Amino acid sequence: MAYDLVVIGTGPGGYVCAVRAAQLGMKVAVVEKNATLGGTCLNVGCMPSKALLHASEMFEEAGHSFAKMGVSVSAPKLDLPAMMNFKQQGIDGNVKGVEFLMKKNKIDVLKGAGKILGTGKVEISADGKSQVIETKSIVIATGSDIARLKGIEIDETRIVSSTGALSLDKVPGKLLIVGAGVIGLELGSVWKRLGAEVVVVEFLDRILPGMDGEIAKQFQRILEKQGFAFKLGAKVTGVDTSGKALKATVEPAAGGAAETLEADVVLVCIGRVPYTDGLGLKEAGVALDNRGRVQIDPHFATSVKGVYAIGDVVAGPMLAHKAEDEGVAVAEIIAGQAGHVNYDVIPGVVYTTPEVSSVGKTEEELKQAGVAYTVGKFPFTANGRSKVNQTTDGFVKILADAKTDRVLGVHIIGIEAGEMIHEAAVLMEFGGSAEDLARTCHAHPTRSEAIKEAALAVGKRAIHM
Ligand code: FAD
Ligand code: NAI
Repeated sequence: MAYDLVVIGTGPGGYVCAVRAAQLGMKVAVVEKNATLGGTCLNVGCMPSKALLHASEMFEEAGHSFAKMGVSVSAPKLDLPAMMNFKQQGIDGNVKGVEFLMKKNKIDVLKGAGKILGTGKVEISADGKSQVIETKSIVIATGSDIARLKGIEIDETRIVSSTGALSLDKVPGKLLIVGAGVIGLELGSVWKRLGAEVVVVEFLDRILPGMDGEIAKQFQRILEKQGFAFKLGAKVTGVDTSGKALKATVEPAAGGAAETLEADVVLVCIGRVPYTDGLGLKEAGVALDNRGRVQIDPHFATSVKGVYAIGDVVAGPMLAHKAEDEGVAVAEIIAGQAGHVNYDVIPGVVYTTPEVSSVGKTEEELKQAGVAYTVGKFPFTANGRSKVNQTTDGFVKILADAKTDRVLGVHIIGIEAGEMIHEAAVLMEFGGSAEDLARTCHAHPTRSEAIKEAALAVGKRAIHM
C-alpha cells in the first residue's frame, strides 16, 4: 500500500483530517483539483467574505462613527481594487498556511481530480494524464457547490453566486439578493456599507431560518434600520437580462400577482448542495441519501468498506468548524481511537454588524420537542461596556431546562457575539447549568458580563436590570 489514508478535497474538513491522521502516524496524501488548497472556506467562502466584512465595516465606521467619538476625518473614499487586494492577501496568507501544514506533517499533495475506483483505489487525473494510487482508507471531503434557481443562469458578473459577489469590480447601484440566509445578509452588508441599495427577497416569512425566531425578528429590525429592504414570503421566478438594468420577476410565495424589480446585480444565495461530480461514487457503490449527500453511519463510514466521508458533502450544518471536527474524529476512528463530534454543541455565527451567534436549541425547537424551559434575557443597553462604546444593539438569550437548569441553548445579537458564544459552548459541553454560568466571575467591564446577567435572569435575579 502506498498510503494509509488518501483524503479527497483540501477544504477545512479534508486538510484538518490529513493533519490529524499524520499526527497519529499515518502516511497520508491529499488530492485537490483546485489550483490552490483550502477549499471553499479559504478561497471563496469564510475567509474572503470575512476580509470584505472587516474592510467594509472600517469604511462604514470611518464615515459614520468616528465623528461622534471626536475623531475627525474627512469623508472616506472607497478604493475597491485595494479592498479586493486586501481580501486576496488574506486568502493567499491562509492558503500558504495550509501548504505549510502539509509540508510540516509530511503529507503528499497530489494535484488533480480524484475518482474512487473502489476500496483502496483512487484515480487522479490532471492535464489529460491519470494515475491510480493505493491506500488503506479513503476520506471523501469534496464539500459543496452553490444551489441554482431553475431558469436563472449565473454568469458571475451580473447574476452572481457568492463567488461573483466576493469579486464585483464596482459597487452595484441596486443589489437584489435572493435568499435571506447567512450569505445574503453577510454579503448584503458588505455591499450596503459600500453604497449599494439592497433588497432581499426571501421565500419564507422570516429571515435566517433555523436561528431562534425572536433573535431573527430583532435582527431584521436592526438590518432595516441600516437600510436593508426585505420582501418576505416571495420568490424570484425569472430575471430578464436583455436591458441595461436586470429585471427580476418577484412573485408571492403563496401565489398572486407578480411584480418587477430592477437591479444592477442579482445575488442568488438559496443554499448549497453537496458536491460529488466526477467522484465515481455510483460505479464504486458509495450510497447517497435522498438529498444527494454521501450517506454515512455514526462513524463516518460509507457503504463501501474503507471509504469515509465528512464535511459539507454529508448531512449536518454546512460549516467549516463542523467539517474540521469531523475531519479530526474520522482520522481518530481510522486510527482505532474513539473520535466523536457533539452535534448538539456546534456554534453558528453570522458575521454582520452586529453579529448573531447561537449554540444549542432554539425556543422553537424546545417547544416542538415538548421540553419545559426557562428563559433568561439581558439587553446590551444595560451592559456598561456597550453603553460607553455606544454599541447597545441586541441582547443575550439563555434557554435552560426548567427542571434541571441545564443550559440547552444560547443566542446572542450584538457586537462580538461570535467571540462571546464560546463560553456557552464550553459550558454546554460539560453539561453546565445557568446557575454555573451565573456564579462564574466575569471580568468588568466586558460585553460578556451580559451572558452572566442573562444566566442570572434565568433565576429572575439579574443585577443590572
Ligand atoms: P470545501 O471547503 O468545499 O472543500 C472541498 C474541496 O474539495 C475543494 O477544494 C474542491 O476543489 C475539492 N474537490 C471536490 N471534488 C474533488 C475531486 N473529485 N478531486 C479533488 N478535489 C476535489 N462556514 C463557516 O463555518 N463560517 C463562515 O464564516 C463561512 N462563510 C462562508 C461564506 C461563503 C460565501 C460560503 C460559500 C461558505 C461559507 N462557509 C462558512 C461554509 C464553509 O465554507 C463550508 O462549510 C466549508 O468550506 C466546508 O468544508 P469542506 O472541507 O467540507 O469542503
Ligand atoms: P442558507 O441556507 O443560509 O439560506 C438560504 C435562504 O434562501 C433561506 O432563507 C431560504 O429560505 C431561502 N430560499 C431558498 N429558496 C428560495 C427562493 N427560491 N427564493 C427566495 N428565497 C429562497 O444558504 P446560503 O445563505 O446560500 O448559505 C449557504 C451555506 O453556507 C449555509 O448553509 C451556511 O451554513 C454556509 N455559510 C455560513 C456562513 C457563516 O457561518 N457565517 C456564512 C456564509 C455561508
